[in-house]
Amino acid sequence: MATSRRDFIQAGATLALGAAFVPPAPAPSRRSPQPAPGDPLPFRAPPMERVRIGFVGVGGQGTTHVENLLSLEGVDLKAICDIDESHARAAAEKIVAAGQPAPTLYTRGPRDFERLCAEEDLDLVFTATPWEWHVPVLLSAMRHGKHAATEVPAAMTLDHCWELVETAEREQKHCVMMENCNYDRFELMMLVMTRQGVLGELLHGEAAYLHDLRSVKFAKDGEGLWRRAWSMTHNGNLYPTHGLGPVANAMDINRGDRFTTVVSMSSPSRGLQEWQATLPADDPRRAERYVLGDQNVALVQTAKGRTIYLAHNTNSPRPYSRLATLQGTKGIVSGWPHRVHLEGRSPGHGWEPAEKYYAEFDHPLWRSERIQQMDRGHGGMDFLEDYRLIECLRKGEPTDMNVYDAAALSAMVELTIRSVRQGGKPQQVPDFTRGRWAKFPQWPIVSA
Ligand SMILES: NC(=O)c1ccc[n+]([C@@H]2O[C@H](COP(=O)([O-])OP(=O)(O)OC[C@H]3O[C@@H](n4cnc5c(N)ncnc54)[C@H](O)[C@@H]3O)[C@@H](O)[C@H]2O)c1
Repeated sequence: MATSRRDFIQAGATLALGAAFVPPAPAPSRRSPQPAPGDPLPFRAPPMERVRIGFVGVGGQGTTHVENLLSLEGVDLKAICDIDESHARAAAEKIVAAGQPAPTLYTRGPRDFERLCAEEDLDLVFTATPWEWHVPVLLSAMRHGKHAATEVPAAMTLDHCWELVETAEREQKHCVMMENCNYDRFELMMLVMTRQGVLGELLHGEAAYLHDLRSVKFAKDGEGLWRRAWSMTHNGNLYPTHGLGPVANAMDINRGDRFTTVVSMSSPSRGLQEWQATLPADDPRRAERYVLGDQNVALVQTAKGRTIYLAHNTNSPRPYSRLATLQGTKGIVSGWPHRVHLEGRSPGHGWEPAEKYYAEFDHPLWRSERIQQMDRGHGGMDFLEDYRLIECLRKGEPTDMNVYDAAALSAMVELTIRSVRQGGKPQQVPDFTRGRWAKFPQWPIVSA
């Protein structure tokens, strides 16, 4: 019964979207992990003077990355790939205007990135394509001897998470998930406060992506061309990493602790249906059927027994929030609005504005004028993530986020979907490091 309903939904979705991609409903994982490599240290590649980059997918977010990369020392943007030739040409114009040679363009359809990976002499392939293309681009890049970086989430299934891990290990390449929210000012202050012990022992975190995207999902360009389709086949947390990344870093996930168990439930699915009902009667999108619960909630437990509340809602009217909360034995920091309460410092049972604490606990990456005045890329955090990626590659250091982080954070997509489907049943989180999480060193505190 469940299967035939899914088939029906998929058929309906395909019909409604014409030739557009409809993501398949997730199947059970059949992959069994390979033994871990013996090296207890995180992967590092030889340093490089300049980083030659091929960029795949230059829509909204890809263009921000291209602009950031053009403003950094030691970057050559050699090739651009996009299925929309006008997007590729617009990126090429920016590259030429920045004084670099015109890049080679790859615009011959949805698999032309394979030609880019095979033919171009590059150090890094970076993708900001729709979700369904992240893994194919990353795998093609690594198999052709390039480091790989992707927008979030890196992967939408557990099998794909394992495939990224195994390919990065086999090919000895970086596979980086570019989680910009790890670099926002408040989240980096949370990390500094944790490391300095002012929160005491961390017990609990709260993380979310709560962003009313109804108009974006129904737009006739950009994410409207692909994001809504996922709501027709998947019911869980489709976008877990923005909230979870910074909480995971503060809790040393994959570096002393790890996610072990997840339970998840979804609310009814209403927001897209109500929006759809306002479309003209002959709009083909009125035939679409959505299954994504508007609110998805999950509880994650770690090996050290910590708890994390993880939520997703992109279908309801509400102000933006990532929650960004850490509760320790000596205090709490909490986002939207950004607040702090420290025992012995804050007024009894009262919040203080986070601004009061930046003078003392601002992360070194946020102390430069250049970053504080950055006006593109979500207020500077996108610049910082690109800056750090290039710096790590040029210096031959481990990247801030590695393939195990990409897998552990992205795994929440399928794990929440499975738990929802099984009535909230606990799901075991795979240990993508295969034991090395206990030995890997902490995320470094670095300066710009
Ligand atoms: N980190 C953030 O804050 C943030 C913000 C927005 C989007 N994103 C992520 O960035 C990615 C892209 O989102 P967006 O908003 O830029 O979407 P978008 O639709 O604006 O851009 C996607 C681009 O990829 C191109 N494309 C599609 N399929 C392709 C293929 N097979 N080969 C080459 N190009 C292809 C499209 O033509 C388009 O130019 C998504 O993974 C999204 O989750 C992240």
